[in-house]
Amino acid sequence: MLVKKQIVETLLPVLSEHLTQEQIENLIEQPNNNEHGDYAFPVFSLAKIFRKAPNQIAQDVADQIDASAFEKVQVVGAYINFYIKRDDLASTVIKEVLEQGEDYGQTDIGKGGNVPIDMSSPNIAKPMSMGHLRSTVLGNSIALILKKLNYNPIRINHLGDWGTQFGKLIVAYQGWGDEETVKKDPVNELVKLYVDFHEKAEENPELDDQARQVFKELEQGNEEYHQLWTWFKEESINEFKRVYNLLDIEFDHYTGESFYNDKMDEVLDYLADHNISKIERGATIVDLEKYNLPVALIKKSDGATLYLTRDLATAYYRKRTFDFVMSLYVVGNEQSDHFRQLKAVLKEMGNDWAEDMHHIPFGLITLNGKKLSTRKGKIVLLEKVLNEAIEIADQQITAKNPDLENKAEIAKQVGVGAVVFHDLKADRLNSFDFNLDDIVQFEGETGPYVQYTYARLNTVLNKYGKEIKPSEELNLDHEHSWEIIKLIKQYPEVIIKAAENFEPSVIAKYVIQLAQLSNKYYAKVRILEENDQLESRIQLVKAITIVLKDALSLLGIGAPEKM
Ligand code: ARG
Repeated sequence: MLVKKQIVETLLPVLSEHLTQEQIENLIEQPNNNEHGDYAFPVFSLAKIFRKAPNQIAQDVADQIDASAFEKVQVVGAYINFYIKRDDLASTVIKEVLEQGEDYGQTDIGKGGNVPIDMSSPNIAKPMSMGHLRSTVLGNSIALILKKLNYNPIRINHLGDWGTQFGKLIVAYQGWGDEETVKKDPVNELVKLYVDFHEKAEENPELDDQARQVFKELEQGNEEYHQLWTWFKEESINEFKRVYNLLDIEFDHYTGESFYNDKMDEVLDYLADHNISKIERGATIVDLEKYNLPVALIKKSDGATLYLTRDLATAYYRKRTFDFVMSLYVVGNEQSDHFRQLKAVLKEMGNDWAEDMHHIPFGLITLNGKKLSTRKGKIVLLEKVLNEAIEIADQQITAKNPDLENKAEIAKQVGVGAVVFHDLKADRLNSFDFNLDDIVQFEGETGPYVQYTYARLNTVLNKYGKEIKPSEELNLDHEHSWEIIKLIKQYPEVIIKAAENFEPSVIAKYVIQLAQLSNKYYAKVRILEENDQLESRIQLVKAITIVLKDALSLLGIGAPEKM
C-alpha cells in the first residue's frame, strides 16, 4: 500500500468527525530532513476544533491511533511524525525493480497515442549547428521518455530543403561551381558557393533576379534544377546521417519543407475564402493583433510562399496522418513567435487541435564561446566535436583500463554520451557554453561519471557471480541504503514529471543524484563481505544498476558494462 494511504487509514478513525480522507491526505508532508520522520502530519488545522494548543492535540491524536503499521510514531511540537518500516518498504521496492527489470517505471499514461516530434531539422547545404544538435538530443530523449509512458513517438526531420536560397545555390553552381570539388566535400563546398553568391550579387544584382527565376522554375518542376536540388539534398542528408549514426538516432520520416510544396494551396484557399487572410500591397497576410502577435505573412507579393506557410500545411498533414494526441516542435527559443503565429492562424481557422501543438524551446549552446555559424567561415563542425569527444574518452579509458576489450565502441558511448549528457542536464531553456575537456571527465556531474558508476557496480555483481533473485524480506543496514531506496522508489514519478514538462534534465539530475549516493554507498559499505546481509546488499546494487541503465537509456545514452 502507498505510504500516504497507510497514514490516512491510521489517522482516520480518530479524525473522521473533523476531516475527510482527502483532507488528511492533502495535509501529509514529506519532511526534507529525515530526522523528522519519513512523513509528517501537522495538526494546526485542528486547533480551532479542539480548542487546545497544537502540541497537545498532536499528543492526544498520537495516543489514540494504532501505530502498528509503522516503525514508530513520534510527536514533535505540532507534528505527528511517521517513521516507515524501512525493511518493508525496501523489500517491496527492490523486489519490484528486480522483477520488472527495464520495465520498472513504465506506465500506460499515453495509451498508445501518436506524438509526432519535429526534431533536429537542419537546413540542407549547410552544416548542422549546435542548435540542431540540441534539438536532436532533446527530441530523442523526449521521444524515449514518452515511449516509456506508452505514447507512440514519431521522429520527424523537417529538413529545411526549400526556399529561394536554392535558386541562389543553383545559379552559383552552374555559374562557377565544379562537380568534382563539390563531390569531395559537399556541404562545405555548397556553403562556399552560397557565400560567393552573396559577394558577387552585391556587385551584380542581376544574379538575385536570376536566382528568383530559377527557384520559381524549380517550384514548377524544372527537370534540370530539380536534379541539382536532389543531389544537394542527398549529399547533405548523407552528412547529417554521419552525425545521427554517432548519436545512434534514427528518424521515422525525413519529410522536409519541400514535401509540403504541393500541400499549401488548400490552406491558402481556406484563409482567403473565409476572409481570414487579406491582401496588403500585393502580399497575403493574416492579422493577429488580437493575439498580440506580429502580422503573419503567408505569401509574398511575388507569389512565393514562406516558412510559416509550409508549417501551416505541415500541421494539417500531421493531424490527418497521425491523428496526434500531441504534436511537438523541438526548436530554439528564437522561433517562439513563429510557433505562436502558427498556432494563432490555425485557431483562426477553427482548429481546436492547435491547442495540442507544443513548441518546446531551448536556449543556445556555444562551444568554447563560439557559436557554430555558417556565415563568415569559422565553422565548427558537429561531427568534429563528437569525434573529438570520442578521442578524449579513449585517452581517459586507456589511462584507467588499458586492456579493456571493445575499447573503440566503449569510447564512442562515453564520448558521445558525455556531450549528450551535458546537453540534457541543464534546464532546456538555459543557454550555456561548454568545453570538451571539462565534460568528458569521470568526475563531476558528467555522463562518464554516471557510466563509470554503473560499470563499477556491475563489476561488483560479476564478482559476486551468483544468480540474483528477489527475496520477500531484505535485511539492510539503512544508514547508507535508505536514501537510495527512497530515490529508487521515486523513479516512476520522476519519469512522469520529465514527460509533463518535456524536460529530460529532470531525468539527468535524478541520475546524478542516484550515482552520487551509490558511490557513497560503495565507499562506505563492504558490499561483498560474507555476512547475513550480503544477499540483500547485492539485490540493492542490482536494483541500482537497473535504474541507472534505464535512466541513461531515456536520455539516449548507453551504459557500458565495463569501462
Ligand atoms: N530548419 C529550421 C531551422 O534550422 C528548423 C525547422 C523546425 N521545424 C519546423 N516545423 N518549423 O531553423
